[in-house]
Amino acid sequence: MHSFLLFQFLLLLSITWFCSSSTTTSPDTNFPHVCNCTRNSTFELNSTYHTNLKTLFSWLSSNATNSAGSHITKVSSGNSSVYGLFQCNADITSEKCQKCIDQAVYNVTSECETSKEAVVFVRFCFLRYSYRDFLTIAEESPKIFLLNLKDYVGQLATFNNEVSEMMYTLRHKVADIPMGSRRFAYGELNITAKQSLYGMAKCTPDLPPEECSSCLVNAAADIPTGCCKGKIGGRVLFPSCGVRFELYRFYEPSSHLNILRLGGNRKNRSHQRQIIISIISTVVSVLLLCFGCSLCFLSRRRQRKLLRGILLRESFGDESLASFESLQFQLSEIQAATNNFSQGNKIGRGGFGEVYKGVLENGQEVAAKRLLGNSWQGAEEFKNEVLVMAKLQHKNLVRLLGFCLEGQERILVYEYVPNKSLDYILFDPQRSRPLTWSERYNIIRGIARGILYLHEDSRLTIIHRDLKPSNILLDDSMNPKISDFGMARIVITDQIQVNTHRVVGTYGYMSPEYAMEGMFSIRSDVYSFGIIVLEIISGKSKSSFCESHFSDDIRLSAWAKWKEEKPLELLDTTLKGNYSENEVMRSIQIALLCVQDDPNERPTMTEIVSYLNSSSGEVPLPQEPILSKSKKMDYMSYYHKTHSINDSINDLSVSTFLPR
Ligand SMILES: *[C@@H]1O[C@H](CO)[C@@H](O)[C@H](O)[C@H]1NC(C)=O
Ligand SMILES: *[C@@H]1O[C@H](CO)[C@@H](O)[C@H](O)[C@H]1NC(C)=O
Ligand SMILES: *[C@@H]1O[C@H](CO)[C@@H](O)[C@H](O)[C@H]1NC(C)=O
Ligand SMILES: *[C@@H]1O[C@H](CO)[C@@H](O)[C@H](O)[C@H]1NC(C)=O
Ligand SMILES: *[C@@H]1O[C@H](CO)[C@@H](O)[C@H](O)[C@H]1NC(C)=O
Ligand SMILES: *[C@@H]1O[C@H](CO)[C@@H](O)[C@H](O)[C@H]1NC(C)=O
Ligand SMILES: *[C@@H]1O[C@H](CO)[C@@H](O)[C@H](O)[C@H]1NC(C)=O
Repeated sequence: MHSFLLFQFLLLLSITWFCSSSTTTSPDTNFPHVCNCTRNSTFELNSTYHTNLKTLFSWLSSNATNSAGSHITKVSSGNSSVYGLFQCNADITSEKCQKCIDQAVYNVTSECETSKEAVVFVRFCFLRYSYRDFLTIAEESPKIFLLNLKDYVGQLATFNNEVSEMMYTLRHKVADIPMGSRRFAYGELNITAKQSLYGMAKCTPDLPPEECSSCLVNAAADIPTGCCKGKIGGRVLFPSCGVRFELYRFYEPSSHLNILRLGGNRKNRSHQRQIIISIISTVVSVLLLCFGCSLCFLSRRRQRKLLRGILLRESFGDESLASFESLQFQLSEIQAATNNFSQGNKIGRGGFGEVYKGVLENGQEVAAKRLLGNSWQGAEEFKNEVLVMAKLQHKNLVRLLGFCLEGQERILVYEYVPNKSLDYILFDPQRSRPLTWSERYNIIRGIARGILYLHEDSRLTIIHRDLKPSNILLDDSMNPKISDFGMARIVITDQIQVNTHRVVGTYGYMSPEYAMEGMFSIRSDVYSFGIIVLEIISGKSKSSFCESHFSDDIRLSAWAKWKEEKPLELLDTTLKGNYSENEVMRSIQIALLCVQDDPNERPTMTEIVSYLNSSSGEVPLPQEPILSKSKKMDYMSYYHKTHSINDSINDLSVSTFLPR
């Protein structure tokens, strides 16, 4: 039965190296292997490197039967080093692993000849070597897509959701497996009476949990768009991680495998949830009848809070209690770290509180954000949010390390990012040098991936609500890290839009529907992203566009240039022609899509990331911003109204986290 299915399983091979669009088709369905050799850097025959490489292969091969099913090693002699690793699938025997490694070595030697660097994917194993020390870093190119050619028949959106939920669960499972051991997780889910979905996620054994998790987010994000749109199965393979899904069991089940049987009580749970919701609703309606409309708001809030509690328990289970303990800091620890909140340690302030740099007892540098006294959040709610935020692991997000909750004190402890924030690096005339185009493009892509992670983190959708350059920190290698998501809102996935009485966020980066009507959704973050992209491209802050400080100006002037077919005129003049025209054009087009007035017309972050990942895929045409004069007036009067009632809009917009 299996082999019959395998026989039917046709593979289309599409290999992308960086953003190039080279596509090859492999007819070899029985035993596909894919080598990718970096051709621009080669070694001499009989050189030290060559000898080292041969030693490396023999070491890898002789370790093929070890218990971990993987081996990482480095061979150095003279002044050259070669790094290598192999990893066998967790469901195969050690003999099979040995065979697979030998084949991989054979194939990579014959195909890559004198390349100093190569990756090879064979059906049951994976091998790579390089002159660069690639260990502990998540590498996502070359990307290998393998797809099942059969189209999915049925509700594709539902299927995609099932796949992404499975990938979410598998990702957390894999990231939690200790480094050095078999980092594979398999999943099974009955999607209908007759059909089951099978999935797999893996990371190489050298990746730290955070890198593993963020690599898998990106791999899973390629499933619905880049790799296998509308298909019943496929794989996304990166050098550092990979995912696969199929409608048949593609692995040998055995007791030592991490197989998660998902959704066993899914129906029950959602049923329970429904019952709870309906009970709550009944209670709420009764309350409403009894106490009149004045209680309406309170009940809804309580209902939402209850729902959220259920959701959090579902997402994190009982382990949440254990992990909670480990996140808690004593007030005394933080006082010691920050010199008792001394002025000298202060690195920023904003509407939510003040930020202090600190050094923990173990030497780790942190940024502690001390929330303002009469806090806006109850203790329970605060704990819940912290728990969720601390679970977020992505290289484009500043990591929340823990919290302190003692008496009136509420403190959030973040990892410390040494570099300055994007607004400083982009707009400050005193900065040392302007950003190059490739740095800018890297920043755009990094921000997009960070937001994607927040939005698509499965059942929990996290809306940042205050995306802006001052909330984007840059590390030493100019990689962006989104900060301040600790104040973001978690919404239940099936809630499409949320209405709030309290508009927080920064004027100019807020989408019109949020600023005017208080409606926020993932599409309002997409809008802010679009404005940020336009600022990164132009090197100008939204407010430096002419007389007023409406984001509309950057939007409208971008649209005008686009319409005149001169979008390149938007570009920061400091780039002096050093840029990729294709990348710039695509970025502008994507930004214009993001800032469209109708939230439903804006792309999702998944779509955006896939547009940014390919240099040739089609990007839809944006529509003209239609904010009319009268609407603009409303916008303005709304602004002044909120401004006079409550100064907090401006207050909240102050950068709350700006390391100096
Ligand atoms: C491997 O990478 C190169 C770029 O170094 C690319 O041109 C090629 O298409 C990729 N795929 C294969 C099968 O070599
Ligand atoms: C090889 O080419 C890649 C880009 O295609 C580049 O990043 C790398 O630095 C090059 N290596 C050498 C040794 O020139
Ligand atoms: C490499 O060494 C082998 C024998 O050890 C020799 O036959 C071959 O000619 C050498 N190749 C080069 C390029 O020196
Ligand atoms: C395994 O790899 C190590 C180096 O990483 C090497 O010293 C050893 O000889 C290899 N073989 C076996 C059987 O351990
Ligand atoms: C180191 O490499 C260079 C070439 O890159 C070579 O000329 C030199 O002889 C090497 N030194 C040693 C000690 O092998
Ligand atoms: C890969 O290796 C296997 C066995 O080692 C060999 O039979 C096969 O022909 C190789 N494939 C290619 C394309 O070289
Ligand atoms: C899925 O269905 C199979 C039979 O169709 C059953 O044996 C298995 O227990 C089901 N799995 C779950 C998790 O419900």
